[in-house]
Amino acid sequence: MTIFAIESSCDDTAAAVVSDGRKVLSSVVASQVFRHVEFGGVVPEIAGRMHCEAISAVVREALDKAETKIEEVDAIAVTAYPGLIGSLLVGVNFAKGLAMTSGKPLIPVHHLRGHIAANYLSHPGLEPPFLCLVVSGGHSHIVEVRNYTDMRIIGRTRDDAAGEAFDKTARTMGLPYPGGVHMDKLAEGGNPDAFTFPVPKVSGSPYDFSFSGLKTAVINTIHHMQQKGIELPREDLAASVRQSVVNILTDRFMLAARDTGHKKLVLAGGVSANSLLRRRMNEICASGDYELYYPELSLCGDNAAMIGAQGYYEFLNGNTADMSLNARAERSIEK
Ligand code: KG4
Ligand code: ZN
Repeated sequence: MTIFAIESSCDDTAAAVVSDGRKVLSSVVASQVFRHVEFGGVVPEIAGRMHCEAISAVVREALDKAETKIEEVDAIAVTAYPGLIGSLLVGVNFAKGLAMTSGKPLIPVHHLRGHIAANYLSHPGLEPPFLCLVVSGGHSHIVEVRNYTDMRIIGRTRDDAAGEAFDKTARTMGLPYPGGVHMDKLAEGGNPDAFTFPVPKVSGSPYDFSFSGLKTAVINTIHHMQQKGIELPREDLAASVRQSVVNILTDRFMLAARDTGHKKLVLAGGVSANSLLRRRMNEICASGDYELYYPELSLCGDNAAMIGAQGYYEFLNGNTADMSLNARAERSIEK
């Protein structure tokens, strides 16, 4: 079964053609980062407008690269939630138009379920059940993936997402948006033990994250040094911040893995590109007790191939929509 997919939930306009949820026939991503970088973050109005400008060409390119036509694919999948509403609407309306004119089924896909499904493209043998750390710019969850379309949130962030924690602290260090990848590169040359930041205690759930204390501590450290006229040791700061975020994520994730008994562990979302997170998880899993999976780098960030992959399993489960489909800024991964 061939699925044509569209993703436009944030600042990437993307389209892809995916076969049987596992094979990428084409994947095109038009990033808007160059426009948002001057504002230090995504400006929703600009994002929506840029999706409108880009989507026709991106769709055409994805079909051309796969050497197919919309009449030849079997269904149309689109990210319908969660995300920036003005951005989501562009993709959803375009997909509805395609579905209506071609008569193909329309499949709404949850963006975070798509991030998890990126792993099905990178690892053709991977199948649920497994435990997944979903870490993106807007969400951070530990998810029990019971089946392709049956998921339970075991832990979540109480405040910022992991990507946000990277982006906000990177910004205070003067790094460009989105700061996660810049901080990751800078950190490679720094001493991760140069600064000690607080480890949060989240009352109630042992699997929940919190990054606000870390963010405040980093900002205070930087301001303090600036007031004293001390030049920022940016590499050491980046390495220390990265280590703190990764410690928080891996501690909670491994606790959840031990308590739930899952042996198959999966990383997903933009932050799964983080080199220390990957290294640390590889070290933890080297003992042989766990199997570890994460997507290839090109599939960690937002793309439509992952939506096509998840769309396949949503379709098999009967999750299609009619022309009343609407985009939603919020929706749980469980629904
Ligand atoms: O999943 P994603 O592409 O978009 C959302 O759904 O939000 O995630 C984007 C987030 C950003 O916060 C970005 O800084 C972060 O992923 N990110 C990274 C790295 N690459 C991207 N964070 C840490 N290290 C990286 N190498
Ligand atoms: Zn994403």
